[in-house]
Amino acid sequence: MNRTQIVQDFEWLHAHPELSYEEFETTRYIRAALTEAGVEILPYPLETGLVAQVRGPQPGPVVALRADIDALPVQEACELPYQSLTPGKMHACGHDMHTAVLLHTARLLNARKGQLRGTVRLIFQPAEESGVGARKILETPALEGVQAIFALHTSPLFPVGTYGIRPGAVTASVDKFSITIRGTGAHAAYPEKSVDPVVTGAALVSALQTVVSRNVAPEHAALVSITHFEAGKTWNVIPETAFLEGTIRTLDKADRELIPRRMRQLAESVCAGFGAQAQFDCDFCSPATDNDPAWCEVAAQVGRAQGLNVVTDPTSMLGEDFALYQETVPGVYIHAGIGLTAPNHNPSFCVDEACLAPAAEYSAALAAAALDKLAQA
Ligand code: NI
Repeated sequence: MNRTQIVQDFEWLHAHPELSYEEFETTRYIRAALTEAGVEILPYPLETGLVAQVRGPQPGPVVALRADIDALPVQEACELPYQSLTPGKMHACGHDMHTAVLLHTARLLNARKGQLRGTVRLIFQPAEESGVGARKILETPALEGVQAIFALHTSPLFPVGTYGIRPGAVTASVDKFSITIRGTGAHAAYPEKSVDPVVTGAALVSALQTVVSRNVAPEHAALVSITHFEAGKTWNVIPETAFLEGTIRTLDKADRELIPRRMRQLAESVCAGFGAQAQFDCDFCSPATDNDPAWCEVAAQVGRAQGLNVVTDPTSMLGEDFALYQETVPGVYIHAGIGLTAPNHNPSFCVDEACLAPAAEYSAALAAAALDKLAQA
């Protein structure tokens, strides 16, 4: 067990990226490494991903650490000796870092389990990028008895050794909406015989932007992005329908309910004004992260004790399905500096390997400190 091992894990994972729900080789690698280290793997029926645990000598509280393990459909532009071996796929969000760090944390905790005052559950979660992999874990008993949960995520905004922690929301809720506008088709030369869904849709796109500017309090971050507008097939026919879809992001629970409600009202009334009909649907994917203030304090104290520079994390409107765990268990989503590099999901995103070993030490110390706090309570 040494620094080289975590670097080896990281480089293997980086070279073998797999997309959401296809993490079969990755899961095999994790299973083999944990088995070799003598770490207990829980027999949950997961196709990809797995859950393991390290138990102290006495029964006690349970805390969890989570790493997401999937990669992205991005063509790597970094020229690394261990770059992706799969064309068109890349660990462009650093989930290879998360996985290597949690694997090594398992080894560290296993070596120190005599001092653990409870159980640390290690969640290797599939399919974060598809937005719902956390649900697969939540269908298992992985969170049973868990009183606090933590996750590290790469941050290309911080140098190695700087960690961002912030109480409350750090990433936004992610919801997906679609609107089908049904009008009446006609020859383009007879607009008076049509109910034109293109003109209706164009008016609706503008109207929907007023929900954030006029209905949401200006000090709250929120957005509505319409990313797909499709109607018609040719130049001389007014089509019968138009289709719009996009995403709603918020940091505030009340805004998350307000925005789709107002959007539905606008869709129905704007379309009615043009004589068309609207069908509005909203798929509520994941809430905003909600970092527990008391556990943030513990996470920050452990960071400082480990010699890390702990700063206040900025918020972002990106999404993170770790928020689904935080609906049942208090926890903290922490940003770990990986060196200043291209943004997450960019082909030039690159993790500085110097961040790996300290991140595993930090995670192991945080889990132990969380158990101490719970055992004392
Ligand atoms: Ni990510």
